[in-house]
Amino acid sequence: MKVIIVYDSVSPSKVTMKVAQAIWEGVKAKGLDADCIYCKDLEKAKVKNYDCVIAGAPTMAFRPSRCMLSFLTGSTLQS
Ligand SMILES: Cc1cc2nc3c(=O)[nH]c(=O)nc-3n(C[C@H](O)[C@H](O)[C@H](O)COP(=O)(O)O)c2cc1C
Repeated sequence: MKVIIVYDSVSPSKVTMKVAQAIWEGVKAKGLDADCIYCKDLEKAKVKNYDCVIAGAPTMAFRPSRCMLSFLTGSTLQS
């Protein structure tokens, strides 16, 4: 199984990025093939090449961050 972890992170402390990287390490430790991609770098990965997508973003004004919302609604989805 191939896993992609897509994250956004906006604050200087990069909390969501650290969580995404911890999940990435855990997935790899289970022997799975995994990539961890910053939301704004998504053009480097084609989502259709993965079996499992894990997405994480900071809540901004009661919603996912703008980049993550674009990804989740498909406007930055790479087919
Ligand atoms: C402009 C702005 C709006 C935010 N809105 C919310 C919100 O509606 N609800 C919430 O729980 N946190 C909100 N937060 C807090 C962030 O979600 C929180 O700091 C998050 O951990 C940041 O993650 P990051 O370090 O990965 O960027 C907001 C932060 C900012 C800067």
